Amino acid sequence: MRYYRKLRRQSKLLTLRVAEGAFFLRRFVEFPRQVGSVMPSSRYLTRAVMDRIDWEETRCLAELGAGTGVFTRAIIRNLRKDGAALVFEIDPMLKKVIEDDHAGLDVYGDARELPKILYERGIAELDCVVSSLPFAVLPPRMTASILDAVCKYLKPGGKMVAYQYSRHMKPYFEKRFASVKVSFVLRNVPPAFVYECVKGS
Ligand SMILES: C[S@@+](CC[C@H](N)C(=O)[O-])C[C@H]1O[C@@H](n2cnc3c(N)ncnc32)[C@H](O)[C@@H]1O
Repeated sequence: MRYYRKLRRQSKLLTLRVAEGAFFLRRFVEFPRQVGSVMPSSRYLTRAVMDRIDWEETRCLAELGAGTGVFTRAIIRNLRKDGAALVFEIDPMLKKVIEDDHAGLDVYGDARELPKILYERGIAELDCVVSSLPFAVLPPRMTASILDAVCKYLKPGGKMVAYQYSRHMKPYFEKRFASVKVSFVLRNVPPAFVYECVKGS
């Protein structure tokens, strides 16, 4: 009996994830350069990103480009009880998915509004930024303004963990951060580079 209940739970979860993937793909077909990927991140990429965050030291975190919320769920699981997450997703339909899944979570639109939101919330600095933004294919001015804001508002020694599908952004990250480490996650569609960018102290 317990086996069948487990099986039913697993098949429900699978159906949910397939529906989530199909919805994400539809958004990609409509806005390919904005969404930047054909499907949500795999659990391997999610783990690789989450493992680079010092959760003990993270009180205030911003997630940029939440999509259907694969990382958002992991962030909520890992964040300390007194921690705060500010989540940004520009696509109103994807934003609604996150809002519906996480009542009470602070979900915002365009990541370019990060400085304004921090000001309104009275937050002086961020401990960590998790970015899924497809920086390499976004309009260059949008990429530059978001990266400049991330650098400005990260605390000294704070970290941005970002994934990309190429090494194109490496020099742009190196220009802004004191240290940039890159690792590669094969088990994702497509395989991804994870950038661990630390702001100077
Ligand atoms: C590659 S998807 C990643 C989704 C999810 N985090 C994941 O890993 O599966 C990038 C997401 O960034 C969003 N995005 C693109 N430009 C944005 C911006 N300026 N502000 C906020 N979100 C943006 C897209 O709508 C898309 O959902």
